[in-house]
Amino acid sequence: MSDQERTFVMVKPDGVQRGLIGEIVSRFEERGLKLVGGKFMRIDEELAHEHYGEHEGKPFFEGLVEFITSGPVFAMVWEGQDAVAQVRTMMGETDPAESAPGTIRGDFGLDLGRNVIHGSDTEAGSAEREIELFFDDDELLDYERVDETWLY
Ligand code: TYD
Ligand code: MG
Repeated sequence: MSDQERTFVMVKPDGVQRGLIGEIVSRFEERGLKLVGGKFMRIDEELAHEHYGEHEGKPFFEGLVEFITSGPVFAMVWEGQDAVAQVRTMMGETDPAESAPGTIRGDFGLDLGRNVIHGSDTEAGSAEREIELFFDDDELLDYERVDETWLY
């Protein structure tokens, strides 16, 4: 099938604490995306700096690192047609206050810091970089779904 791509998604510490892992996973399953990797883990300082490297030096950076390392996260890789953009659309805007109802951040986000979910941005190479940072190749599963004709 054409335009199949993978994207990196994670339920942030606030989403885990609030019991939103299942809700968030359900939304992507129901949208037809395919789960190819998942890991419940803690992000250490080094990984936080690498993952959010583009924001180093910005005023919110230290708070962001503190937040993302503050508790477990649920990291995932989802696959599907235009998966990167699809997930970003389903997430809403960075600021929950500007996110439409029906989006994940619009429905559950509290503020700019506590916005529940991360998804790779649409810059070329972002998703690949983040997937590699969080997952080994053998943690990403290739498999067929029974209803592949009707799904991606
Ligand atoms: P960014 O990559 O701009 O947003 P997104 O998560 O939508 O890709 O920023 C990364 C995270 O940094 C964002 O989810 C929340 C936090 N953040 C702040 O706390 N303050 C800010 O002003 C911005 C832009 C982001
Ligand atoms: Mg971003």
